[in-house]
Amino acid sequence: MATRLITLALFTLSVLLLISLSVGVVATATEQPQQRSEAEVRLMYERWLVGNRKKSYNVLLGEEKEKRFKIFKDNLKLIEEHNSVPNQSYHLGLTQFADLTDDEFQDMYLRGKKMDKISGSDIGDRYLYKEGDVLPDEVDWRDKGAVVPVKTQGDCGACWAFSAVGAVEGVNKIATGELISLSEQELIDCDRGVDNFGCLGGQAEFAFEFIIRNGGILGDQVYPYSDNDTAACKRIEMVTARFVTIDGHEGVPQYDEMSLKKAVAHQPISVMVEANNMKLYKSGVFTGPCDNWYGNHNVLVVGYGSSSSGQDYWIVRNSWGSDWGEEGYIRLERNFHNSTGNCAVAVRPVYPVKSNASFALLSANVFKLVCLLLGLVLI
Ligand SMILES: *[C@@H]1O[C@H](CO)[C@@H](O)[C@H](O)[C@H]1NC(C)=O
Ligand SMILES: *[C@@H]1O[C@H](CO)[C@@H](O)[C@H](O)[C@H]1NC(C)=O
Ligand SMILES: *[C@@H]1O[C@H](CO)[C@@H](O)[C@H](O)[C@H]1NC(C)=O
Ligand SMILES: *[C@@H]1O[C@H](CO)[C@@H](O)[C@H](O)[C@H]1NC(C)=O
Repeated sequence: MATRLITLALFTLSVLLLISLSVGVVATATEQPQQRSEAEVRLMYERWLVGNRKKSYNVLLGEEKEKRFKIFKDNLKLIEEHNSVPNQSYHLGLTQFADLTDDEFQDMYLRGKKMDKISGSDIGDRYLYKEGDVLPDEVDWRDKGAVVPVKTQGDCGACWAFSAVGAVEGVNKIATGELISLSEQELIDCDRGVDNFGCLGGQAEFAFEFIIRNGGILGDQVYPYSDNDTAACKRIEMVTARFVTIDGHEGVPQYDEMSLKKAVAHQPISVMVEANNMKLYKSGVFTGPCDNWYGNHNVLVVGYGSSSSGQDYWIVRNSWGSDWGEEGYIRLERNFHNSTGNCAVAVRPVYPVKSNASFALLSANVFKLVCLLLGLVLI
């Protein structure tokens, strides 16, 4: 009996010791960048390769692997230095881009066409913010079922297609009550040539143009994503498949975060952001540094709010999978000191227009009523 008690006491003691030790380790980890040994970083790199299911992780050999490892090491250093500064509003982490240099990352993933004025969309005034407009303090279209789960563009620079499709999915849900996941691949394969260039880049507003010309866009169940830039446009009869139409597209009044706020209160909005420094974003409210003039990545603003410490942010849905950022989203600083918005978010916001189903129903009824009255008059 006594030996048992002693064993129990010893066991409890060692557990307590272990807990205090690990607490100590965690505390030092958050206080200063760690001095890691080469072997330790190498182990982290191998784990990261497996964890990120890098297609080539078991065939990466020799020189290329050493080159990637060195870049990974530099990125890790940057991450730990950033995170060790107290009160950072956002944290960095080992995202799937952790073995890429900034140049490689920008070349491969940031293919939104750089333009600072709206070329395809007229600016609409429906979302122009006016003195006295009352807007909700917080909006999150995910809570209203108007946002499909985060998608993954893979090694294809078609952010423009993901952003445009997300905006159409949202406006369709708001106007018809139905959330239908739509086909980026149809845009990549079929909307080619003058304005949009598949995996080589494009603009959301030209995607809206295409959807109008095409008489709609198919669901991604019938036209799934293949991450293939050389596939021919498949002609799928729309009458036999589910598809979604829009009536037009417009731009939000530019350089005005209040108008953007008003727009986002009504529907998810396609924006261009400058995303060079979002490569390693993990969590929190992203504050840059950014170029505030030229966006290079198309994303979707699906809401806005304020953090507990009073920092205002946009809720932005990205297309880099759900392992990146906050389950695929980034919160971006809102109410920036420059009218461009942080990372150029307020420079060219655009959105598709779809007339309200209930309004359409109403006007159909009005039409019938007019016919009836006309009929009566004629009799
Ligand atoms: C960090 O944040 C804490 C809590 O919000 C605050 O009390 C402190 O002053 C901040 N320190 C700096 C350097 O901003
Ligand atoms: C891409 O599409 C082309 C043309 O349809 C096809 O030949 C090729 O096998 C596809 N590649 C992949 C990786 O699916
Ligand atoms: C806003 O940002 C742009 C682009 O960085 C810059 O040229 C301009 O001077 C800034 N304006 C203000 C008022 O800070
Ligand atoms: C469509 O009508 C509903 C109900 O009247 C309204 O709540 C909603 O905001 C309208 N949507 C748009 C895009 O006007």
